Amino acid sequence: QSEDSGSIEGEESIIVETDFNRNNLRFKSLLGEGNFGQVWKAEADNLAGYIGTTRIVAVKTERVNNGQGGLKAECEIMRKLGSHSNVVTLLGACVEQEPHMLIMEYAMRGRLLSLLRAARGVLNGINSHPPSRQPVMPLSPRRLTGFAHDIARGMEYIAEKKIVHRDLAARNVLLDHNGICKICDFGMSIDLDKIKASQGYMKIPRVSTCHTKFKFDMTARVFGGLKNYATSKVRNNNNCDNNKNRPALPIRWMAPEALQYHIYSVETDVFAFGIVLWELATLGITPYPTLSGREVLRGVPSGVRPEIPSSCRQELSETMKECWNKEPSQRPSFTDVRKSLSRALVQWQ
Ligand code: ADE
Repeated sequence: QSEDSGSIEGEESIIVETDFNRNNLRFKSLLGEGNFGQVWKAEADNLAGYIGTTRIVAVKTERVNNGQGGLKAECEIMRKLGSHSNVVTLLGACVEQEPHMLIMEYAMRGRLLSLLRAARGVLNGINSHPPSRQPVMPLSPRRLTGFAHDIARGMEYIAEKKIVHRDLAARNVLLDHNGICKICDFGMSIDLDKIKASQGYMKIPRVSTCHTKFKFDMTARVFGGLKNYATSKVRNNNNCDNNKNRPALPIRWMAPEALQYHIYSVETDVFAFGIVLWELATLGITPYPTLSGREVLRGVPSGVRPEIPSSCRQELSETMKECWNKEPSQRPSFTDVRKSLSRALVQWQ
């Protein structure tokens, strides 16, 4: 299959069957578990029109009664994204009947966060795969910059498609057999085209990851037609008495305007990308390790940012600082970032 047959570099067209016959799935091993449900390694027969073939895939299943209905929304976002070499591809789905399932390409080397931590001998991070899954991959500064470039390229594509990811973090980046980064987990993502079309309020997909106790409602509001952004409000969610059902926000990756005013845009994803660069530079330290969630929530809008390690290369530290600009319009675009990382990689040779 050609990688660059589409109009956007790295894009490929793909047909996704949304009523895939679940009897054609054989579940092999559990890859991860979260609030939303589980991710399994599985074998799928006759997928994407390839009759008589079997493919190794990752299947995301939805927890029944999780109080949300996210996989269908996630399916729509992933279908819109289609196929790009730096984004996890949706190959099929079972969303016409419950329980819903998403069938995705299998990324053999697992989560970037787990790889970063394994590289410094720290095992068992959030959602990590079993330590035995992969041999430790040596991570040179050049390789880390290569990861950053892959992620920027994937995010550039996602932004072109008018999708705001809203949960960009090293835990939501996977590595394939070639060590190429692929962005995954669109459970929190929003489609700005849909928000604009609805001209008012719309449902925001539920939050798939649980990091803090903060809650938010599922209504987004659009301001004017001035800019591509959406808001969602933090609220006191008294009708949720069960911790497991409580959606939560990735506070430590969030931009000041998202923490303060619940505004989400491509620029809030750029801020989160800066935090991912920091995760790369620190081999997977949780951002603001000395601060509580509440301190981060208060501190970031008043200028607190992660401390950049002195060993960090200048190209990376400069990009981080630009991505963390308080003013969203002053942050670079993903295209700017991808180009500057590309230049840094060329100079390295
Ligand atoms: N864990 C979560 N999603 C995955 C995928 N698509 N491939 C491999 N591991 C995963």
